[in-house]
Amino acid sequence: MERIVLASTNKGKLREFGDAFNALGIEVASIGQYISGWDVEENGATFYANAQIKAEAAMEMTGLPSLADDSGLSVYYMGGAPGVYSQRYAGENSTDQLNNELLLDRLAYAKNYRQAHFTAVLAYAAPGAVTHFALGRLYGSITTAPRGDAGFGYDPLFEIRGSTKTLAEITLEEKNRISHRALALRSLFKACGAFRG
Ligand code: IMP
Repeated sequence: MERIVLASTNKGKLREFGDAFNALGIEVASIGQYISGWDVEENGATFYANAQIKAEAAMEMTGLPSLADDSGLSVYYMGGAPGVYSQRYAGENSTDQLNNELLLDRLAYAKNYRQAHFTAVLAYAAPGAVTHFALGRLYGSITTAPRGDAGFGYDPLFEIRGSTKTLAEITLEEKNRISHRALALRSLFKACGAFRG
């Protein structure tokens, strides 16, 4: 079976990407299987740059085709912040809860201007080939208080456009159908000749 490396040790991502690629007859292995203590500095200014840094580092270290993703939340009232800083919005060792509290704080006066989107960029790097990219976006708005227990990150504050629910109020299966990562993956499959059967 053809194998690609996922430039992440996140189990949720491994399962999500694994399921999608398995359906195409491609196995997805975590970078953790090849490199112990995998850690690459994500110092890019954009989601594209960070995804490229991770995918190309994994490809160079393993010699195998590698996939990486980078994602985050952009809030229009805040000029697109926290963007690439989503994970460490409230500081280097921040938590989801602290990030969410800070976001609500910053939007305290943004009564009717709470639109936002999640972005996911995928980078696929194969030896001797140009790196392919794909983008997915999920649109919505930021609630005034957290709702729901599912998901992670900003999910309890993100009300999906066209729905009354936040991402933390839907099942993982539903989220995996509509998420920015799912959209990016579909786009990568469409655009990238390497996956055409
Ligand atoms: P990364 O792409 O795994 O580095 O994720 C960056 C950060 O963006 C996460 O730590 C979350 O704060 C935020 N984020 C990305 N995708 C989601 C999502 O689907 N739900 C909630 N937060 C997300």
